[in-house]
Amino acid sequence: MVESLEDRVIPEEIREDAEARELALQAWEDIRRAANEAELEAIRVAYLGKKGKVTEILQRLKSLPAQERPQAGKVGNSLKKLLEEWLGEKRTSLERVLTEKTLREELFDISLPGRYLPRGRRHLISRTMEEIEDVFLGLGYEIVEGPEAELDYYNFQALNFPEDHPSKSMQDTFFIHREGIPLGEVILRTHTSPVQVRVMESRKPPLFVISPGKCYRSDVPDATHSPMFHQVEGFAVDQGITFGDLKGTLEYFARAIFGEERQVRFRPHFFPFTEPSAEVDVSCFICEGEGCRICKYTGWLEILGSGMIDPQVFSYVGYDPERYSGFAFGMGVERIAMLKHGIPDLRFNFENDLRFLTQF
Ligand code: DAH
Repeated sequence: MVESLEDRVIPEEIREDAEARELALQAWEDIRRAANEAELEAIRVAYLGKKGKVTEILQRLKSLPAQERPQAGKVGNSLKKLLEEWLGEKRTSLERVLTEKTLREELFDISLPGRYLPRGRRHLISRTMEEIEDVFLGLGYEIVEGPEAELDYYNFQALNFPEDHPSKSMQDTFFIHREGIPLGEVILRTHTSPVQVRVMESRKPPLFVISPGKCYRSDVPDATHSPMFHQVEGFAVDQGITFGDLKGTLEYFARAIFGEERQVRFRPHFFPFTEPSAEVDVSCFICEGEGCRICKYTGWLEILGSGMIDPQVFSYVGYDPERYSGFAFGMGVERIAMLKHGIPDLRFNFENDLRFLTQF
């Protein structure tokens, strides 16, 4: 007789007992089908639990005639042992399948090298702006921001620009064209100076304010021009403010940003909204005044425009120029950053090239 699977895996004493054999075959089938631990446990209980089928056979022994008991006991115990063995094997195999499945699905390989996380940082322009702000916050100034889409009135008129000033021409200013708004009334601000007017018209001195933000001019981008750039405006208005205060403040600022050893000079200049006006230079920190490419062999670097607020501007905001005086200044943030870090082209600031960004 050819040995069947049944012959090999089921001990003889069980095979020869019809009821035990049937139960073993049934259990084999049930255990084979179990798809998970819970199903397997239910099968264990059905056969070997307190009221399980095999347990029942073993309990029945007591009521058997004495001479039948040893053989029946042997069959029952063998059956119990066999089922325990099968359940154990199946449990092991279910566990292995589960582990393999988890490993496959979680794709978790602790032997893989860690993933490189590039470290982010704030943009050079944002940080330069903050550096400038910090100097003035330290002097007790407050920060006030203004709108980027601005009225011609605040950007030009109330700052004493004449109606036909060249900077108002189509070539320099972006105009916002909207149904219902006369062309030329709303523009993208060309500088941060309009915030001076907005603050003064809504508040009374003393005022010590800086205003950082974006400005726009319809320039073709090149090494020194960009249609969008950043400025920090500043102004102080109170009784008795003098040009000496302007000089002291800006000298302090220039040294805080460019180094304690810097010389500062004030060159007469013209702005419609300040009188007198001055451009401020710091001694070149590259060549220490010897003359180099950066300072164009002058020994000086221009860093900002400034002046005493023109009485005409005060008249637009209803301040009495006999009672109040003030100074103002404005600087290009890109220019300050470029001077400080030796950046040769303004466009680098806006190209988001990581080779540039990660240098600072
Ligand atoms: N608004 C000027 C510009 O964009 C810069 C400036 C110069 C601002 C002199 C001032 C100032 O407040 O007093 O070129």
